[in-house]
Amino acid sequence: MKIIGICSSPSINGNTGVLVKSLLGELENLGAEIEFIDLAREELQFCRGCMSCLRTGQCIIPDSLNEIRNKMAVADGLILGSPSYGIRPNAIMKNFLDRVGLFNAYAAMFGDKYIIGVSTAGGIGAKQVAKQLTDLVICPFKQGKIVGTLHAHVGVKRVEELPDIDKKISKLALKMFNAIERKRRFPFQKLFKKILFGILLRRIFINNLMRNKDGRMKAVYEYLIEKKILAA
Ligand SMILES: Cc1cc2nc3c(=O)[nH]c(=O)nc-3n(C[C@H](O)[C@H](O)[C@H](O)COP(=O)(O)O)c2cc1C
Repeated sequence: MKIIGICSSPSINGNTGVLVKSLLGELENLGAEIEFIDLAREELQFCRGCMSCLRTGQCIIPDSLNEIRNKMAVADGLILGSPSYGIRPNAIMKNFLDRVGLFNAYAAMFGDKYIIGVSTAGGIGAKQVAKQLTDLVICPFKQGKIVGTLHAHVGVKRVEELPDIDKKISKLALKMFNAIERKRRFPFQKLFKKILFGILLRRIFINNLMRNKDGRMKAVYEYLIEKKILAA
């Protein structure tokens, strides 16, 4: 079992990174192979909006993105963490989601993953941000499994000082480990979004895909066929 934890806090040893690393530590103790990716220390340019990922399957910008995305593609579980900035993920995470987002939105690259969203805030927004991060696995052609969220409002404290935080971390890590081992499904998580994406948006996506399957959406089409997400 492989779990990747990705954190976008710019702070060295920041609160969000502590939570992501603690979850990974618990999962490692349970027997998982883990890796931590510190997005702020990676070379990641802004998305150029060229959409060539849809045609080629790769991002044309020669930086860390393709390598990170390839690691995520072979993981069983993903932990995404961002501090809450104005009740949104921070800009580093937003850019990362833009960079992986377009190909993933169509090809559902992470549609078979188990995911946990993690966020910390001073006093407001951590829960909303942690939930927003789990949207990564909800795509029209396939929806991944949302294990849960870990969120904390730290005020002027360090996250480690919060009561019960260790218990929450252990419980959630165990939930992810067991869910992956037992191939658990979470059918009622984000039910409304799943219906919206799986039925309504799916039709729009299929029309768009079929019109462009030999051209600007070639890689998406080939990926969906190869992974048997779509029938040829
Ligand atoms: C630009 C910026 C915006 C922020 N916006 C909010 C906010 O809207 N609500 C809040 O409660 N905390 C806000 N914070 C505080 C951070 O969310 C909080 O300190 C968080 O724990 C930082 O995580 P880190 O240590 O992992 O970087 C903000 C901090 C910064 C730097």
